[in-house]
Amino acid sequence: MLLEIGLTLLAAALLYRLFFRRKDETLPMGDGWWGAGPRPESEEDESIRPFKVETTEEELKDLFQRIDQTRYTEPLEGSRFNYGFNSTHLRKVVSYWRNAFSWEKQLEIINKYPHYKTKIEGIDIHYIHVKPANVPAGRAVRPIILVHGWPGSFYEFYRIIPLLTDPGSHGLSDERVFEVICPSIPGYGFSEAAHKQGCDSVAVARIFYHLMRRLGFREFYAHGGDWGSIVCTNLAQIAPSNVKGLHLTMVPVSSSGLSQMLSVVLGKRFPGMFGFQDEDVRRLFPFLKKVFYHLVKESGYMHIQATKPDTAGCGLNNSPVGLAAYILEKFSTWTDRDFVDYEDGGLERKFTIDDLLTNVMIYWVSGSIVSSMRFYKENVGRGLGVAKHDKIQVTVPTGIASFPNELMHCPLSWAKQKYVDIVSFTYMPRGGHFGAFEEPEILAKDIQQFVAKVEHK
Ligand SMILES: *[C@@H]1O[C@H](CO)[C@@H](O)[C@H](O)[C@H]1NC(C)=O
Repeated sequence: MLLEIGLTLLAAALLYRLFFRRKDETLPMGDGWWGAGPRPESEEDESIRPFKVETTEEELKDLFQRIDQTRYTEPLEGSRFNYGFNSTHLRKVVSYWRNAFSWEKQLEIINKYPHYKTKIEGIDIHYIHVKPANVPAGRAVRPIILVHGWPGSFYEFYRIIPLLTDPGSHGLSDERVFEVICPSIPGYGFSEAAHKQGCDSVAVARIFYHLMRRLGFREFYAHGGDWGSIVCTNLAQIAPSNVKGLHLTMVPVSSSGLSQMLSVVLGKRFPGMFGFQDEDVRRLFPFLKKVFYHLVKESGYMHIQATKPDTAGCGLNNSPVGLAAYILEKFSTWTDRDFVDYEDGGLERKFTIDDLLTNVMIYWVSGSIVSSMRFYKENVGRGLGVAKHDKIQVTVPTGIASFPNELMHCPLSWAKQKYVDIVSFTYMPRGGHFGAFEEPEILAKDIQQFVAKVEHK
C-alpha cells in the first residue's frame, strides 16, 4: 500500500515536472558588468553617441602589406573545398581584395545608415538605427531588433533593412513598416568586447533589452539567426511582456527528449506519429548521413572556439588572408553543403564578393575575431544544452522561417517542445544558414506575414 502511494506520488511528481513546471519558469533578468577593472560606484553614462565606421590610411597600408606577405599552401589535386578553402581560389579572392575591392565605397554603404554607440553594463554597444522614411498615414511603425551571428555581423542585414523599413518601394506590402535596430553582439564588429569572463547569450540579451528600453521601446519584435536566434530567444525569455513576437531562422533546440530520440529512429517509417511532414522527412533522413555526420564534419570550429578561442584566434587576427579563408569557408558550406564540391566554393552564387569581403573587413578592422570566437566558450564551453535557458520554454508568439539548407533542420514538432506558441512555421523554398544575407526578400515577406498573424490573434 505504502509502496503504491509512493509510486503514485512519484509518477505524479514526474508528470507534473514534465507537463507543468517547465512552463511556469521564467528566466531571471539578472545583472552584469563587463568593463575593465572594478565596477565604479558612479552611475553609468547613458548617453547615445553617433558613430561612423572609419579607417586610416595606415590601417589599409598595414592590411595590404600583410596580404602581400601571405604564404599559401597548394591545394590537393581535385580537392575543391573538401579540405577547407581551396587556396588557388583563395588567391583569386585575395587578388580582388588587394587590387579591385573598394573599401572606400563599402564604407559609404556601411555608413549610409546611422550608427551609434552607448554604454551598457560597462561596455560600449554599437548599433544601427534605421527609421522608416515613408510611413503611410495612419500606420503604426513596428520596432524590430535584428541580431546577427558568427561569422557574420550587422552587415548581414543590409539587404533586408530596406525591405523592412520601406517595403512599399521594394514591391512588398506597405501594411507593416518597421523601425530597425541592429546591434553588434559584444565582442563583434564595433561593440566593445567584455573584459570579464561569462558574457554569454543571456547577458547579451539583457544588454540588448536595456538598449531597446533606452531607445524608448516598450514593445518590439525580435529576429535572429545563428547566435542571434539564441540571443533573441533569451530576450523573449527574460522580457516576455516586451517582446511582441520572436522570429527565427535557426531553432536552437538542444534538448534530447525521449520523443525526439524516438523520432530520429522511427520518424522515417512513422512520420505521422511524430508530427513530421514530408519535407521534414526529406530534410532529416537518412539521419546519420544528412544530420549526424554532417554536423560532426561541420562543427570542428565550434569545439576549438568553445575551448581555446584565444589560441586559435591569434593567427587569424594577424593574417587577413587566414581570416578571410576561415570566415568565407563558412559562407560557402553553410549556404549549401554541396558547395564543398565546387572549385570556387560556390561563394558568388548567392553573395557578391564585395559583400563577403565587407563582412571580413568588419572583423579585420575591428580586430574582433578572437572576442567573437570567445562567445562559443561562454555559451557552450560547459556543454551543450546545460544552461538554465536551455531548459526553459518560450511563451512569446514565435515564427520560424525554416531554410532548406540550414545546418540542422528542426521540425515543428521538435520546436514546439520549447516554443509553446508557434504562430507561423514556413518551409522556405530556398536558402541556407545566412537567410537574411542570402534571401532577404522571402525572409522579409515571412517576417511580414508572421507579424500579421501575431497582431490578428
Ligand atoms: C581551386 O579553384 C580554382 C578556381 O578558382 C580551380 O581552377 C582549381 O581547380 C581548384 N583547385 C582544386 C584543387 O580544387
